[in-house]
Amino acid sequence: MTVTEAVTHRRSIRKFKGEAVPRETVERILDRARWAPSWGNTQPWEFFVLAGPPLESFRAANRQRLSRGVPFSPEVPMPEAWPDRLKGRYGELGKIVLGALGIERGDKASRGGFYLTMAELFGAPLLLVCCLPRALRVEYALFDMGLIVQTICLLAYEEGIGSCVMAAAVGYPDLLREAAGIPDDRRIVMGVALGYPDTEAGVNNFPRPRAPLAELVTWVGGG
Ligand SMILES: Cc1cc2nc3c(=O)[nH]c(=O)nc-3n(C[C@H](O)[C@H](O)[C@H](O)COP(=O)(O)O)c2cc1C
Repeated sequence: MTVTEAVTHRRSIRKFKGEAVPRETVERILDRARWAPSWGNTQPWEFFVLAGPPLESFRAANRQRLSRGVPFSPEVPMPEAWPDRLKGRYGELGKIVLGALGIERGDKASRGGFYLTMAELFGAPLLLVCCLPRALRVEYALFDMGLIVQTICLLAYEEGIGSCVMAAAVGYPDLLREAAGIPDDRRIVMGVALGYPDTEAGVNNFPRPRAPLAELVTWVGGG
């Protein structure tokens, strides 16, 4: 597999098969991902791998809390406003995902059902809880975390394992702290659901739009 193939074919998986992923496979992925770059080689990341009964307890508690309508209280604030162009893309994604699931935009009950499957981590048998030292300023450390998380997702893809980076997995950090025994001096910043993808599911097959290069690149001099 080439890097190009992994980069362009990796996609967010929103329906997993329940089948367990061998621990050796996850360890191989994480071991290789350590080569990701970081500010001054500080390697600020730390991962808690949730699986089995602790994951099932979290999944149930997360679903229950979301179904009660409790607002998220993440340890890294979620964006609340976007420049128009970005807002448009966000709205587009929502339409595409609901469309792939055959859910009409006005069908609130089915939309709510989808959010509950999200709270249940789309059935993934593993959740990687990505943490940073609480004392660290988040800006550059989040940059580092992004680099290693993408590296993990690409290495997982190479192993036939699907991934979904999930802000929705860390909306109730107290539940994760309890399930995974995460100390208070760690900031829970992101979740990554991992597992074998259901390759037949429409929600894992829709075309993913990307902005054209001209929208994001400005050449100054050269070519
Ligand atoms: C920081 C971050 C948080 C995300 N959180 C969620 C999430 O909570 N739920 C979800 O379904 N997808 C989530 N995603 C996946 C994005 O929607 C996805 O990466 C984007 O639509 C591009 O699609 P692709 O990953 O299939 O290429 C998240 C991605 C990132 C980078």
